Amino acid sequence: MSIGILTSGGDCPGLNAVIRGAVLKGTQIYGQEFVGFRDGWRGVVEGDIVTLERKDIQGIAKQGGTILGTSRTNPFEGEGGADRIKENMDRLGVDSLIAIGGEGTLAAAKRLTDAGIKIVGVPKTVDNDLSATDYTFGFDTAVQIATDAMDRLRTTGDSHGRCMVAEVMGRHVGWIALHSGMAAGAHAILIPEQKTSIDQIVAWVTSVRDRGRAPLVVVAEGFHLDSMDDAHSERGLDAFGRPRLGGIGELIAPIIEERTGMETRATTLGHIQRGGTPTAYDRVLATRYGMAAVDMIMHSRWGRMVALSGTTITHVAFEDALGKLNTVPQSRYDEAAILFG
Ligand code: F6P
Repeated sequence: MSIGILTSGGDCPGLNAVIRGAVLKGTQIYGQEFVGFRDGWRGVVEGDIVTLERKDIQGIAKQGGTILGTSRTNPFEGEGGADRIKENMDRLGVDSLIAIGGEGTLAAAKRLTDAGIKIVGVPKTVDNDLSATDYTFGFDTAVQIATDAMDRLRTTGDSHGRCMVAEVMGRHVGWIALHSGMAAGAHAILIPEQKTSIDQIVAWVTSVRDRGRAPLVVVAEGFHLDSMDDAHSERGLDAFGRPRLGGIGELIAPIIEERTGMETRATTLGHIQRGGTPTAYDRVLATRYGMAAVDMIMHSRWGRMVALSGTTITHVAFEDALGKLNTVPQSRYDEAAILFG
């Protein structure tokens, strides 16, 4: 019998390091065999596997993306569900699963656990928005990429005397914006957790301009328009009442320009933040997660996911991990805000 690994949901730097950590520990220490399911739950539902032997995972810790492919397939949509997965696992000689993914993947893993399938989870999100773990791998890489990008935006902003707006990932929480903004010396950080008026943003930008500097504003993609006390905040329209094509960065840049008279440009970093080689921190965390997932399988800790508590790898039940967002605490925002303006 072998252990099956799948990567599901949006990709994230460090996925390959998890796979490598799991396969190396599982083969070297426990004498286990592994297979990989292609494209997340799709591969499990359709029984689409690849070999995961030592030769298949050599040198992959530094590779971005996932060698297994990923998809947003929900195993409970369409035909089969848990029964089909059980049949496939029996037919393919797969005894247990390591599901690497975010909230959606882990919710599906919980339902499959309840249906009697042996699963452990590894949390994955660049947004760092899972409350059951102190950090998720991929976050550090995304912060580094965003920081590098903002360092570059600052030199071009300084040269032209422009206000630069950088939109970063973070659908529900502002961790990437907070950390990259602090690291890059942003003059304003706009996050979903923190209501911020356009008057306040304009005040920060103006005070930077009046000191002869080029302002840098970082905004998380999930920063809501309706948290802005301004007539322009109507969802879906730009500052001039036209249908909006871009994200929140594209929306606020013209408002800043209009209100400050300062030329303003927006840059959306998008999926660049999820691509390419993971940082050393993410490789180490992801490798430790992969090794810990195999330990959990060997100790029959079904229905649980690995987690980081301080510097220790631990594990928590799916039901205790799901549905709770790790939001930026007020104290962390207040600390960063000392540097604004
Ligand atoms: O949840 C991670 C994340 O990168 C978010 O920050 C972003 O909103 C979303 O995924 C993008 O998803 P997709 O790759 O499907 O466009």
